[in-house]
Parts: sequence; C-alpha cells; structure tokens
Amino acid sequence: MNLILLGAPGAGKGTQGELISAKLGIPTISTGNMLREAMANGSELGKQVKKYMEEGSLVPDEVIMSIIAQRITEADCKNGFILDGVPRTLAQAEALDAKGIRIDHVVSLEVDDAAITQRMSGRRVCTKCGASYHIVNNPPKSEGICDLCGAEVAIRKDDEPETVLHRLEVYHASTEVLKSYYAGQGKLRLVCGNQPIEDAQQDILKAIGETV
Ligand code: AP5
Repeated sequence: MNLILLGAPGAGKGTQGELISAKLGIPTISTGNMLREAMANGSELGKQVKKYMEEGSLVPDEVIMSIIAQRITEADCKNGFILDGVPRTLAQAEALDAKGIRIDHVVSLEVDDAAITQRMSGRRVCTKCGASYHIVNNPPKSEGICDLCGAEVAIRKDDEPETVLHRLEVYHASTEVLKSYYAGQGKLRLVCGNQPIEDAQQDILKAIGETV
C-alpha cells in the first residue's frame, strides 16, 4: 500500500498518517518532519531550508525529491509507505511518476480555510519526533509531554497566524492542482477532515479499501 495524504496545512495529514501507520504497519514519511529534524540538527540541509520553512514557502522541488528518493529505498518501506506533505507541486508528482514510484491511493483531507486557522492556534508538536497534538481536540496524555517519545511538545514556529495564511495561499496556488492530477489517474479519494479524528480515520480506511 503506497498512499499519499494530501490536504491544506493543518488538515490533519500528520495526525491521520500516524494512526494509519500504526494500523497498517507501514511508515509515514513526512517531509515537514524530516526538514524540521535537519534544522534541529544544524545540518547543511537544515541551513538550506530554514528560510523557506520559517516563512511558510515551499522548499525547492529538487531538494524534496532527493530526500524522498533516498527515504523510500529504506528497508521499512518495502511493504508500503504513507507520504505526508509530499508531493506538493505538480513537478513533485510528475517526478514520482517518472521515477516509477507506484502510488495506490491519494486521500485528500478536505477542511475549509476558516477551520484551519482556528485549529492551528491550538496545535502543539513534539520537538523530537514531530507527533502532532491539539490542546483541546487531541491533547497528549500528560500535559506538555509527547505520548510517543516522552519529549516536550511546543508551538511550531510556522503556526503564527500570518504564516498560516501564507501557507494556505501557497497550498491553493501550488498544491491543490494535485487533486485534478490524481483524479485524472483515478486515484483520488476525498475525505472530510472536518469531523472528529476517529471518524476521519475510519473514512480514510474505507476510502482505501481497508477494514475499519
Ligand atoms: P509540513 O510539516 O508538511 O506542514 P503542512 O503541510 O503545512 O501540514 P501541517 O503539518 O501543518 O498540518 P497537518 O495536515 O499534518 O495537520 P496536523 O495533523 O498536524 O510542512 C512544513 C513546511 O515544510 C512547508 O511550509 C514547506 O516549507 C516545507 N515542506 C514540507 N514538505 C514540502 C514539500 N513536499 N515541498 C516543498 N516544501 C515542503 O493537524 C493540525 C492540528 O489539528 C493539530 O493540532 C491536530 O491535533 C488537529 N487536528 C487534526 N485532525 C483534527 C480533526 N479531525 N478535528 C480537530 N482537530 C484536528
């Protein structure tokens, strides 16, 4: 099962990716998390992408494609993977196709912009593993501590209201077109992301033909 999760910033791709990963036993590959980790480590890649990430703009396609091409060759991807946050441009989607990377389903989590801006103000993310929480909708079991790895959870730098608005503009300008791209390949499944997390998860599983 090779799955793409599409959706606006804050639509719930990371949240659903982790749940489906646990259910299907395949890894989630989040370019956002990989880039944030590179920044935290102070690597060359991290320095290269810092400006784009902080302003909520897209990192150049060639940087993203080199990360992805390497990651999906790793052993844990042999039975499938979930792409969270990639592809994000037509060029990235075409590059995946050109590399012969098979995609079975593309799930687009549909959430309107007003709900997104509300959600983002309550989001907290793990500073180590990137797991996503919400102070009201999905709080960690112990306040301020990640359920998965025990590290501190914090507000993400690009969740400032102005940056969120810019990220939404970028989504509408560069990423939304991927819905028609994958609809043309017969792979697009639309799922309402503006419902309780558990319900959205069940709808995704049904949409990709898995048992709930
Ligand atoms: P990335 O980290 O991918 O950010 P994003 O796509 O903007 O998505 P988010 O992580 O903000 O949101 P999400 O959809 O995962 O939602 P979440 O589950 O956290 O990218 C960051 C940056 O990296 C980009 O701006 C760019 O610079 C760069 N980048 C990354 N990939 C790139 C690429 N391919 N090309 C170029 N540049 C790239 O949920 C959000 C909140 O809502 C949480 O608090 C959660 O608890 C809550 N929530 C989730 N579901 C529900 C629900 N059903 N009901 C109520 N609350 C919910």
